[in-house]
Amino acid sequence: MIEAGQGPDRTAALAQYRRRAGVYDLELTLLEPLRRKAIERLALERGDFVLDVGCGTGLSLELLRRGVGAEGRIIGIEQSPEMIEQARARVARHRWRNVTLLGSPVEAADLQESADAALFHFTHDILRRRDAVANVVRHLKPGARLVATGLKWTGGWALPANLLVLPAALRSVTSLEGLRQPWSRLADSIGPLDVETMLLGAVYIASGRRLSPPAAASSTRRRAAVGAAR
Ligand SMILES: C[S@@+](CC[C@H](N)C(=O)[O-])C[C@H]1O[C@@H](n2cnc3c(N)ncnc32)[C@H](O)[C@@H]1O
Repeated sequence: MIEAGQGPDRTAALAQYRRRAGVYDLELTLLEPLRRKAIERLALERGDFVLDVGCGTGLSLELLRRGVGAEGRIIGIEQSPEMIEQARARVARHRWRNVTLLGSPVEAADLQESADAALFHFTHDILRRRDAVANVVRHLKPGARLVATGLKWTGGWALPANLLVLPAALRSVTSLEGLRQPWSRLADSIGPLDVETMLLGAVYIASGRRLSPPAAASSTRRRAAVGAAR
């Protein structure tokens, strides 16, 4: 049971993804175009080192590998043993040598080097943990690119769409805290983000760069194309 205002709950998240791991890839099928869009926004270059934060079963790995090439590197970080087991099987199946998987909470992940880019794809619980966001941002090079995607509360005339957001969120997250602007802790840490919304404002892609030195800004700049927050 999720209580209003409460932050992410690790024990609940582990149980949630233990139950969901077997059907996760199937459930995500309809959202794959969004993954492609998010990874395009990362503007990866050959040879880049990229973090797949909360990598789950590794659904982003193939596209990330296409971006960084065989000479680039990817680290996937995932706390659920059942989810990362599938990611490991995927890596083994494809014989990807430049993918490393860390079975760890993001906030405790032992990252040894700084990355060129980081992807947070449908990782609301991670985005709402200051310590997890801080650990990732600490391990980004100045100018590194970040993209976060996921569900958000919608507003205004599209308010009824929240009836669809709620069950989807309850299946994926352990905290509804921050669902109006899930990217806000990231913006607090790195500065303004471009935020694009779609599907009546129920889904967002936020992107930005880690500035040098990191900006302590809390504002977000919305892309003119998407208009006011719904
Ligand atoms: C909705 S899934 C997204 C998986 C993947 N990013 C994708 O796009 O398919 C969220 C994932 O975040 C993981 N997760 C949640 N909190 C975490 C944390 N603090 N550290 C590491 N992984 C976490 C969950 O175990 C789950 O696999």
